[in-house]
Amino acid sequence: MTLALRLRAVTRQKWQTHIPRRTTRPFHTPSRQFQQQQQQQQQQQQHQEDNNSRSTHFGYETIAESEKEGRVRNVFSSVAASYDTMNDLMSFGIHRIWKDEFVRALKPGSLHSVDKGWNILDIAGGTGDIAFRMLDYATNVKNDSKTRVTISDINPDMLAEGRKRSLWTPYGGTERLSFLEANAENLESVASESVDLYTVAFGIRNFTNKQKALEEAFRVLKPGGVFACLEFSKVQNSLFNAIYKRWSFSMIPIMGQLVAADRDSYQYLVESIEKFPSQEEFKNMIELAGFIVPSQAYENLTGGIAAIHRGIKPLHKAQ
Ligand SMILES: C[S@@+](CC[C@H](N)C(=O)[O-])C[C@H]1O[C@@H](n2cnc3c(N)ncnc32)[C@H](O)[C@@H]1O
Repeated sequence: MTLALRLRAVTRQKWQTHIPRRTTRPFHTPSRQFQQQQQQQQQQQQHQEDNNSRSTHFGYETIAESEKEGRVRNVFSSVAASYDTMNDLMSFGIHRIWKDEFVRALKPGSLHSVDKGWNILDIAGGTGDIAFRMLDYATNVKNDSKTRVTISDINPDMLAEGRKRSLWTPYGGTERLSFLEANAENLESVASESVDLYTVAFGIRNFTNKQKALEEAFRVLKPGGVFACLEFSKVQNSLFNAIYKRWSFSMIPIMGQLVAADRDSYQYLVESIEKFPSQEEFKNMIELAGFIVPSQAYENLTGGIAAIHRGIKPLHKAQ
């Protein structure tokens, strides 16, 4: 190679290695904000597609997950006005004894007047049955007039019934009682570690993603806070179970038809009870969400027609 040619090659090499790195965005590249928005939209679309393709139960029917929330909403909007009457008829009034026992077992409220009282979140609180009992217990048994309850429910019609009923109690319109319309699977307006006691009575079997709701319960509870659930469960004695099933499947939809002019909603209610996990399975789900379950993990009521489950959020994070 001649000297001139070698010089030219070396110069080209140097020039190439000294090309400055591009530091500015090329004119046609979308901004980061735009890219993020596109990514979010794609994720939301993906989530919606996943929901559409994943299936779940609606009673005995198998439906897309995305459909369940709306179908459950329709059921409770339809039964809201007759909800209390139907509960009394279907259970011969026994649901009142179960609810009393649930609240008595939890002993809500502070014993010391210097305390701020408990912050209780009653999920799927509907018409307020549990909330009013807890406020009565705190006030009358613990002499605590500071404990407060938020009744949260996904259904505005059920909340409206609760609001109406609260006016017949000493708590309606006071700061001890508030209402929140929210899905238990996403309680974004409830701060993490802000709740002393989380209750859910006859609600969780209607949720689309029960495990997600348990994880939300874990998030919002303070360390040491208590998760408590009252739900229909599995009857332990086979003879009693056969009688109970025959009665509920034949009579409850008919009562729904006669009293609420709505057979389908009550058919769903009995089927949803049947589909709910057993006591042991539900205990495992509570543990999976991170709760410590007491040695007596659950209490069966009326032979297991219903059961009370409890879990405690550990004081220290698991390693
Ligand atoms: C059978 S009622 C129970 C009402 C009340 N806790 C009681 O014991 O009488 C079930 C309630 O769960 C509510 N619910 C269903 N799905 C929900 C969800 N994903 N998040 C919050 N509430 C829900 C319904 O709107 C309804 O008010």
